[in-house]
Amino acid sequence: PAASALELGGVKMAKDDIVRDDPTNNVPDTIFTKLGMQLHKRNQHPIGILKNAIYEYFDSNYPNKFNKFDDLCPIVSVKQNFDDVLVPADHVSRSYNDTYYVDSQTVLRCHTSAHQAELLKEHNHFLVTGDVYRRDSIDSTHYPVFHQMEGVSIFYPDEWGAAGLDATEYAAKDLKRCLEGLARHLFGAVEMRWVDTYFPFTNPSYELEIFFKENWLEVLGCGVTEQEILKRSGKSNNVAWAFGLGLERLAMVLFDIPDIRLFWSSDERFTSQFLQGQLGIKFKPFSKYPPCYKDMSFWINESFTENNLCEVVRGVAGDLVEEVRLIDNFTNEKGMTSHCYRIAYRSMECSLTDEEINELQWNVREQVQSKLNVVLR
Ligand code: PHE
Repeated sequence: PAASALELGGVKMAKDDIVRDDPTNNVPDTIFTKLGMQLHKRNQHPIGILKNAIYEYFDSNYPNKFNKFDDLCPIVSVKQNFDDVLVPADHVSRSYNDTYYVDSQTVLRCHTSAHQAELLKEHNHFLVTGDVYRRDSIDSTHYPVFHQMEGVSIFYPDEWGAAGLDATEYAAKDLKRCLEGLARHLFGAVEMRWVDTYFPFTNPSYELEIFFKENWLEVLGCGVTEQEILKRSGKSNNVAWAFGLGLERLAMVLFDIPDIRLFWSSDERFTSQFLQGQLGIKFKPFSKYPPCYKDMSFWINESFTENNLCEVVRGVAGDLVEEVRLIDNFTNEKGMTSHCYRIAYRSMECSLTDEEINELQWNVREQVQSKLNVVLR
């Protein structure tokens, strides 16, 4: 329900206080209405069940150690989201194409890492769960709102001293042991591997992958916290590790949920299938309705991006759009580039009539033309 007053992280605000017609605001209504839904706080929802299962792992292995936060406001400053975690000024994630800006200095957090620096000033070990927002393309595993859990843990000189390791080695070793244990807690005896990667806020940085149903699945990003972040939080004598994991990604695998849109469904045939505290339940699809495909071609311009296209399509079709896929792309002798996209429409709750789909497609064509200034072919 789209309430007009929001209370997030103890901060009450009228939704109307957010200036919606600011030219630097790129948050559409479809996203705006997700603020405050907090799926991760529903104990009978797969996202809440998974959050609780991860809490259970930390509580039993590290009793009373980690402070938990799950209602920090998702509207944060550019400083919190990017600067505080050392994201470079020219990093793509800062662009209007990738991030939702409420105004030029305020964003919908694109990761729970936005809270690291501030929490580090007061806490040594913590978990932060929350909804995060990213402009993205459309398919069964991508949705512009999803949920992450962040973990941070700091160490003292006597700890790595006693182990006879240098600080970074010690933290990296502890991190891997902790997360391998978490993966086993959630998935049982699975094959895992560590992959080196890059994040601005950790060094070294890793991804953990697990072998699941014949595929290597990336389950989280993590690493040893950059010393600069600790220094700025008044902890220069410590080292720390941090991780961030995507809850939908894991829940889709653990509960056999085939499409990420289902997490947002209020259809009882979805919501009634899950029980508090039960990670093992497999989702039984209620009859799958057929998809309907519509193609559209247009000449793009220099400012065209697929994320912008997807936002327009979602603005019209909401959760009835299952996928938007580029199926043809060519440039003619005059240097004009044409894209053809195939849009898959499918409701998860009922079958759609030809008239409904034609109407959606007609509106999509009209909006794509007027909002993106492209020329339909
Ligand atoms: N913030 C990273 C992401 O969203 C995940 C991460 C968190 C990586 C903490 C390292 C440390 O992809």
